[in-house]
Amino acid sequence: MKFYITTPLYYINAEPHIGHAYTTIAADALARFYRMADYDVFFLTGTDEHGQKIAEAAKKQGVSPQQLADKNSETYKKLWKNLGISYTRFIRTTESSHEKVVEKVFRKLLEKGDLYKGEYTGHYCVPCEGYYIPEDEDSPLCPDCKRPMNKISEPSYFFRISKYAGRLRKYIEEHEFVKPDFRKNEVLNLIKSGVCDVSITRKNVEWGIVSPTPEKYTVYVWFDALLNYLSGIGYLHDEGLFEKYWPANVQLMAKDIIRFHNVIWPCMLMALDLPLPETIFAHGWWITGKEKISKSKGNAVSPGKIIEEYGVDALRFFLLREVPFGLDGEYSDETFKKRYNSDLVNDLGNLVNRTVNLVETKLSGTVAYSDTDNGLAEISAAAYENYEAKMKALALSEALEEAWKLVSALNKFLDEKAPWREGSTGVKQVLYSTVSGIRDCAIMLAPFIPESSLKIWRILGLPGDPCEYNFAALREKLPDGLTTQKREILFPRKK
Ligand code: MSP
Repeated sequence: MKFYITTPLYYINAEPHIGHAYTTIAADALARFYRMADYDVFFLTGTDEHGQKIAEAAKKQGVSPQQLADKNSETYKKLWKNLGISYTRFIRTTESSHEKVVEKVFRKLLEKGDLYKGEYTGHYCVPCEGYYIPEDEDSPLCPDCKRPMNKISEPSYFFRISKYAGRLRKYIEEHEFVKPDFRKNEVLNLIKSGVCDVSITRKNVEWGIVSPTPEKYTVYVWFDALLNYLSGIGYLHDEGLFEKYWPANVQLMAKDIIRFHNVIWPCMLMALDLPLPETIFAHGWWITGKEKISKSKGNAVSPGKIIEEYGVDALRFFLLREVPFGLDGEYSDETFKKRYNSDLVNDLGNLVNRTVNLVETKLSGTVAYSDTDNGLAEISAAAYENYEAKMKALALSEALEEAWKLVSALNKFLDEKAPWREGSTGVKQVLYSTVSGIRDCAIMLAPFIPESSLKIWRILGLPGDPCEYNFAALREKLPDGLTTQKREILFPRKK
């Protein structure tokens, strides 16, 4: 079975912040989960590099748009490397293979009559790269980002979305396509309120893919960028790859770009006679002080700083655990520290630390196979079953809660059995079960905190890497005679 997952392509006008990291980490956790569940995974991410917004940012910085794109796409790549993002492909919209696909699609839709020439007169929001109708014509503000819009009037090619809107509406009503569920009505209302054909060329924007038309306009940046989800897996140039992975299983993004992904994008696919993705999932925003964290608002929280202070896995864990996937989350250093100290230091770190201490002092560092019947194996099996269901439902925070039920059960078990007490009986069995349970935790947590799971794996003396094991390993007995290894503090406490 295959699993194709995508993130949005991020604009390279500025450096990434935790909002971009969030979507990418979520996609990574899902990609890792599906790999461990034996799926053939394709995970696509990358950068969106054309358009007026990028051209203006480059001009301000005194460099060419291409130079800005080269520099900042590298910054994204570097951050993804630091965050352990296991993408299959990082696509840039300035790659010629992508540009060729955009040109071919443009031609195809032109021939089909789904593109036509007209005149666009209206407003344009550069930060959102979108055409909007302002509430107040006299002081036209973007309804999404509330910033002033430009008035433009220019000849343009239009995409005949109106032809597909009815079909899309019916499709959304009948399928589990728009996720989370509470977004479905929002999208349906958007469609019902009237969908206009969208202008897909810009006459006065130079930085873009040149349209295959006599006028040589540039292609509207969203029409260009959305097609990455096809070009990134070989559409019109590697049909074998494309056939294997399309349609996408999960397309992730935040709620700010729902309109583009739930209306324009599926209509483009219908025009191309391609099946629609299985799920388009819009998560919430990270906000701080009631405002969306954003490059342009100057309130960006830097992932680099958090990684330096707490480590990569702490950031991955916090973002995916703190907020139910789909809702907004308020970021603060205080909540970060609190979650880190309680879950990672007290619950997980302490469990591993004290267990290994006991194995060393009570069993000379070796855990022998032991027949046990204390209910822990059942707790682990139930935790995995629920965890798997939550992962498949994209309920990432709840999946972590399920795994944590096992962490808590193991801590409770140790507290009750107190194998450190003089004269305590069955120490061998107690520690065998606890180590076995920790192994199961390391497997379930591997998609979320891969580096720490590997550390736990090594501390327990297990061979290989938990990420390379698939979940079937959970049903295997812990190998006999494991020898615990030199310990390092997994999560140092923060004051
Ligand atoms: N380039 C377009 C997307 C084109 S996809 C074909 C774009 N880029 S962006 O750089 O603005 O990135 C937007 C995405 O970044 C959001 O959809 C979300 O995935 C992520 N986030 C940016 N800020 C965020 C928050 N404050 N909170 C959560 N996610 C955020 O839009």
